[in-house]
Amino acid sequence: MTLKIMTVYGTRPEAIKVAPVIKALEESPDFESVTVVTGQHREMLDQVNELFGIVPDHDMNIMSHGQTLAQIFARVLAGLDPILEKEKPAALIVQGDTSTSTAAALAAFYRQIPVVHLEAGLRSRNIMSPFPEEANRKLTTQIAALHLAPTETSRANLLAEGIDPTTIVVTGNTVIDALLMTVSKDVAFTDPRLEHLAVSGRRILLVTTHRRENWGGTMEGVGRALARIARAFPDVEIVLPAHRNPVVRDAVLPQLDGFNNVTVTEPLPYGEFARLMSLSAVILTDSGGVQEEAPSLNKPVLVMRENTERPEAVAAGVVRLIGVDEERIVTEVGTQIHARRPVGASARSRNPYGDGQSSKVVLDALRRSFREAFSL
Ligand code: UD1
Ligand code: UDP
Repeated sequence: MTLKIMTVYGTRPEAIKVAPVIKALEESPDFESVTVVTGQHREMLDQVNELFGIVPDHDMNIMSHGQTLAQIFARVLAGLDPILEKEKPAALIVQGDTSTSTAAALAAFYRQIPVVHLEAGLRSRNIMSPFPEEANRKLTTQIAALHLAPTETSRANLLAEGIDPTTIVVTGNTVIDALLMTVSKDVAFTDPRLEHLAVSGRRILLVTTHRRENWGGTMEGVGRALARIARAFPDVEIVLPAHRNPVVRDAVLPQLDGFNNVTVTEPLPYGEFARLMSLSAVILTDSGGVQEEAPSLNKPVLVMRENTERPEAVAAGVVRLIGVDEERIVTEVGTQIHARRPVGASARSRNPYGDGQSSKVVLDALRRSFREAFSL
């Protein structure tokens, strides 16, 4: 008897983190894998599926430019329901804290399909930051049947909220599986500017930004800080793979026009981005996933946020929270970019998010949870 497991995802980070699990499900004789993409992201999602060779069974194609949170949620909830009715999965996997993941979890819950929450238990303890992710992850916790927590800290967060301990399994984070599957491959940059930069040996400051709570004035401040850094450090090349969101581009990019030491690119395929991270001197970001990946690459990461739900990376000495103030960003980058012992130089060799074997632990947890029901 095989168990039909449906995985629903919609954005770049979800795609990266579910890919190793989907591959493992496909290879296992115990499971039948059904994949559904909502298409909350379009190009950035397709890029990842292509890299991992995943062809979704269903594509809801919901993305629209300028989509609101309510629109994403409503489209996923309504669009997934008939797919659930047709496929009747034994369980549904969602990942993390996006609108796709919480809406998909709710659609499954309404049909009494057990929800498996991958990357459960992250908490910043500020409902407005990250927004709306802190609320999303807490909502999903309320309706999930199986909580796959990446670390002991996330398990403790769930226990503190009264979650039944028998429904929590610590798995590590599958992003490390994805990273190690990818970073080991020899990848050439598609953009010739990056290939030239790679051989030049110049210092690289890699920057990514997209967080909704930073949209507007705060993100314009990030753009101004980058322009000041470009001026102050002509020997440093700033590389910014720009998120597809026009709100982000409009806030940051106009201020970076005309610098010959700033390279703005389209979102990079994951393999190219992983190579660029390895080549960088410092990474400046507000990304969640990059904070988890950095300890495996031993790269200093300055996080443009006031808080983090990833305290393990800070404790590992790789990540420093620097906030979003323009002045502070300029100072912190200035200190780190030429430092003899930058943040991360003291990092422990073990990544607190795992060793690349998390998807195996996830499959074991699924087997154990459903053993009695399906005599696996
Ligand atoms: C979403 C997630 C966030 C996650 C982030 C990762 C929510 C509420 N937010 O935020 O948790 O950290 O993804 O990047 O679920 N766009 C494109 N092509 C793409 C992707 C995006 O054109 O491939 C543009 C569209 O105009 C879209 C906009 O970006 O409307 C915003 O996308 P959306 O998914 O709403 O929000 P993100 O900020 O990307
Ligand atoms: N990433 C990528 N290409 C890029 C920028 C980021 O593949 O141009 C990867 C990065 O390595 C990480 C993930 O995308 O695994 C993070 O996505 P994002 O920052 O959009 O979302 P978050 O993790 O903040 O939810």
